[in-house]
Amino acid sequence: MTYKTLLIDNENALKTLAARFTPLLKTGDVVTLSGSLGVGKTAFARTLIHTLSPATGEVPSPTFTLVQVYDLPELSIWHFDLYRLEKKEMDVLELGWDEARRSGVSLVEWPDRLGNLLPKDRLEIKFDFVEDSENSRQITFTPFGTWCERLEKMK
Ligand SMILES: Nc1ncnc2c1ncn2[C@@H]1O[C@H](COP(=O)(O)OP(=O)(O)OP(=O)(O)O)[C@@H](O)[C@H]1O
Ligand SMILES: [Mg+2]
Repeated sequence: MTYKTLLIDNENALKTLAARFTPLLKTGDVVTLSGSLGVGKTAFARTLIHTLSPATGEVPSPTFTLVQVYDLPELSIWHFDLYRLEKKEMDVLELGWDEARRSGVSLVEWPDRLGNLLPKDRLEIKFDFVEDSENSRQITFTPFGTWCERLEKMK
């Protein structure tokens, strides 16, 4: 397994990263976003959605709705935040998981709640705080399955 680690200096740098990353996405993808509370998982999802379609309005955290769906011109993005679910796969299914897999790209915060629904083919993105720097983050991309080859294409 090959992985990529990047260091970003501030939230604005997410834009450059999203511009490199979004061309790789296609319908059916699952991208997991993990890391501590407040590390920037939602900030990354928001930047990604605005990169795909700058005209998109607000991109709120799905903390309470658990999922927000964005039908963008080229892709549908299903942004999940499963923090409030205890590992109950039924609940994930009730949020529209099957439709998300069929018709969109799933961005999943707190993916441990997916249990057996976590697909073999996926990209995991892990966010870490950087010591002594409020706005820096370390971001690690770990590919599984077909993502191994696809991640190599990220410029
Ligand atoms: N380099 C950075 N990347 C991302 N966010 C940053 C960065 N620097 C500062 N921030 C700030 O960190 C916070 C990240 O919050 P965000 O809601 O994205 O976290 P989260 O990981 O989704 O948390 P939660 O687990 O609660 O959903 C925001 O207030 C954002 O402005
Ligand atoms: Mg969040």
